[in-house]
Amino acid sequence: MPDRTPSQLAALERSNDLHDQVLTDPQRFRVLTGDRPTGPLHIGHYLGTLANRVRLQDLGVEVIVLIADYQVMTDQQAGHQLVETVRGVVADYLAAGIDPHRTTIFTHSAVPTLNELVLPFLSLVSDAELHRNPTVKAETEATGLPPTGLMLTYPVHQAADILFCQANLVPVGLDQLPHLETTRLIARRFNERYGNQQQVFPEPNALLTDTPMLAGLDGQKMSKTRGNGIALRATEDETAALIRRAPTDSERHISYDPLIRPAVANLLDLLAATTGEDPHRLADNIGDGGAGRLKQTLTEAVNELLRPLRQRRAALADDHSYIDEVLDNGNDRARQIADRTLTAVHNLLGMTYANRAAPQTSRNHRAGAESNHPTGAISG
Ligand code: TRP
Repeated sequence: MPDRTPSQLAALERSNDLHDQVLTDPQRFRVLTGDRPTGPLHIGHYLGTLANRVRLQDLGVEVIVLIADYQVMTDQQAGHQLVETVRGVVADYLAAGIDPHRTTIFTHSAVPTLNELVLPFLSLVSDAELHRNPTVKAETEATGLPPTGLMLTYPVHQAADILFCQANLVPVGLDQLPHLETTRLIARRFNERYGNQQQVFPEPNALLTDTPMLAGLDGQKMSKTRGNGIALRATEDETAALIRRAPTDSERHISYDPLIRPAVANLLDLLAATTGEDPHRLADNIGDGGAGRLKQTLTEAVNELLRPLRQRRAALADDHSYIDEVLDNGNDRARQIADRTLTAVHNLLGMTYANRAAPQTSRNHRAGAESNHPTGAISG
């Protein structure tokens, strides 16, 4: 396990408290999470975040899921077949157990008033702060291309994603913590400068998962573009073929040793995450069965875990009109929330010209006002 920085440790500690609070008081929380639609979701998404979103939803937490189709433009390859990719991601969500009656699914591009929040928010961060973000740096390097303005500023867009609905809980991996810091900074500065002593935007917290980041079958970071993850939509035969091709080593007896035998340990980690069992015990059970036995066990475990999900997916993935309806409804709802938030922001910024402010958006009305809002920051 790599050394944690002090701010990562603080976030982990807060996150552990929050896990407990969610169990005792789910209604207090509004969760916003998102994915870039770069391709089919894979088992790493399922084990790392999707299963957790479903768990939160089922606990009674309000969950809003963003398909970040503007953010995907930081990946300069993306953009072809976006419609198919986005529909596929929605099908993956529904198959995983996201219930569109309880959970809102929407895309950036359908909610202009969310995107407009980026403008005032950009005024609240300095150029130096934007350049300091380690995740943006790493992603910029990974593209091998000159950095774009969108790449540099996407954490501010992500702040708009989170703040437009006053989410107070954001389930993410450690790599997203710098973006959450930017979001907290923007919320704090907005409140200080324009909030008239009120907390217009709550400072959201990260909810970190205990599932470690799963590597792909080749030991590299699991990614939709590298094709080293097992797609949720893959057939059982495709799953078997992918796992068969995964590298191992020449030692027959299976043991769990991430430093000396990373390839074998990587498969055992995936098996452990899939079955919820300890990787050392799994290795002992396989023992002299060797890599063949390990791969067979892994294939069966993955296929068994994903079978119900794949059945649900098969039943709905081709029903474009249903998928589009789910998105339409989610987009409508997100637009309503974003419109209210932007109106409240305009009011606080003094941008209330003739015919602009609707009667219900008086100065007492906080951003995104919904009387029963769980974060409490925006009651009217
Ligand atoms: N940056 C996230 C990722 O690459 C996706 C994302 C966009 C997101 N907006 C968000 C995540 C808001 C959490 C909250 O995975």
